[in-house]
Amino acid sequence: MAMTANPEGWRFCVAPMLDWTDTHCRVFHRQLSRRARLYTEMITTPALVHGRRDFLLRHAECEHPVACQLGGSDPAELAQAARWVQAAGYDEVNLNCGCPSERVQKGSFGACLMLEPALVADCFRAMREAVDIDVTIKHRIGVDQCDSYAFVRDFVGTLYEAGCRVFIVHTRSAWLKGLSPKENREVPPLRRDYAHALKKDFPDAVICINGGIETVQTAEELIAAGLDGVMVGRAAYQNPWMLTTVDERLYGDAHEPPTREAVIAAMTDYIEKTAPEHPQCIRGTARHMLGLLNGLAGAKAWRRTLSDPAAYAAFGTHVLEEAYARAGWRTPRMGADRFDDDEY
Ligand SMILES: Cc1cc2nc3c(=O)[nH]c(=O)nc-3n(C[C@H](O)[C@H](O)[C@H](O)COP(=O)(O)O)c2cc1C
Repeated sequence: MAMTANPEGWRFCVAPMLDWTDTHCRVFHRQLSRRARLYTEMITTPALVHGRRDFLLRHAECEHPVACQLGGSDPAELAQAARWVQAAGYDEVNLNCGCPSERVQKGSFGACLMLEPALVADCFRAMREAVDIDVTIKHRIGVDQCDSYAFVRDFVGTLYEAGCRVFIVHTRSAWLKGLSPKENREVPPLRRDYAHALKKDFPDAVICINGGIETVQTAEELIAAGLDGVMVGRAAYQNPWMLTTVDERLYGDAHEPPTREAVIAAMTDYIEKTAPEHPQCIRGTARHMLGLLNGLAGAKAWRRTLSDPAAYAAFGTHVLEEAYARAGWRTPRMGADRFDDDEY
């Protein structure tokens, strides 16, 4: 049976990014937007079967709505993995059909799966039958020479027939030979017209567009032009403050946006709670926050402190507050005696 999906759920998503969107990063992003849908890094099914499953699936209660992205191509394994994802409490399980890395190609998943739509449909059905949460697909618009609109239309059509109703479309082809994954996010041209055409051909599917979206204004324009949602990757990570305008501008949810001080206080609380069990979380969290002061005075000093091992040794769980102070700002929790204004 086809699932029905509420398009609002995908209006603004932060993309899955390996090594970037781990649980610490998602907790940080959640301080900036209450509504954005957050995605995990890709987790492969072999890693879930043989690895530290609890660790791989861990996430914080505040992360919802949060989706777990899987990489795999074995229907039975994906069904089992989807069950674990659901049991762990995620809101959605997403299948990666867009990653072009060689390692992923060897495992026959990621973008090369677009060449095997019937297999992807089997994977989708197996996952769909295994769980009640949303099962979605993230894919490219083509692979190598297979880059006509008809190719991606037929791929989506096969999945649509299998019951899939949410497609996250990275509007670039994947060139499997000769380009690194990084180049594959930059070199193949963006074809946003393909996403618009998919929305026309599959009007009751949720079409969420991804690739090269740098501002909330562009997101607004793409949605106004008929798409259901946008997924933003690098821009959201590098310029996280953009997330603070998402709730009001894309969801009409006009709550007071957070201040940087409040975000630093919340993340310091998070670090203090998490560090006793996971001491690496201090650096592991701060590294995702380097862009927090972008565009403000002191941004460089903030980044410099958070890149300095001595600062972690000296200030431990309070390193964010110290970095903020060294940037010439101070948090409400810091006593006036914490730093000397003359230093700045
Ligand atoms: C560091 C990094 C890691 C990524 N890892 C994944 C991944 O695990 N799964 C995936 O589907 N896409 C991955 N991507 C691709 C992004 O999800 C997204 O499709 C791509 O960056 C284009 O969006 P953007 O232009 O908004 O960044 C990654 C991108 C980056 C920059």
